[in-house]
Amino acid sequence: MTTVTNEQLTEHALKARQRAYAPYSRFAVGSALLDKHGQIHYGCNVENGTYSPTNCAERTALFRAIADGVKRGDFAAIAVVADTDGPCTPCGVCRQVLAELCPPDMPVIMGNLKGDTAVMTVSELLPRAFILEGYDD
Ligand code: THU
Repeated sequence: MTTVTNEQLTEHALKARQRAYAPYSRFAVGSALLDKHGQIHYGCNVENGTYSPTNCAERTALFRAIADGVKRGDFAAIAVVADTDGPCTPCGVCRQVLAELCPPDMPVIMGNLKGDTAVMTVSELLPRAFILEGYDD
């Protein structure tokens, strides 16, 4: 059961966005990831002068949560926000990481600064995701 509303999680993502390190793109993104224990994990994009190490807000939140001890599958929802025309949708790499770590039916709450929102599940965003089988976590 989700104890935090979509609107509240989006507010947390907006706060996380303020911490974005995006000097190259100037495109700040924030995310807030709710785990099944009720804890919220914050993410922002962190860019790099050599470009490819850049980490998106969604993956920052997911990797932080795993590093803080949350187990694969123990996530309830994620919100992502940026200054986009419509709701900000996760990139393909983040969709793959969401598919690996989160339940397929987990809601991904996408928003922007105007208050537009859309909600899709992880499996809707990446149908037929590749998952390597035969490994225990
Ligand atoms: N970015 C995210 O953090 N999340 C997304 O869903 C889309 C893109 C970041 C990566 C890069 O720092 C900047 O936005 C421009 O692509």
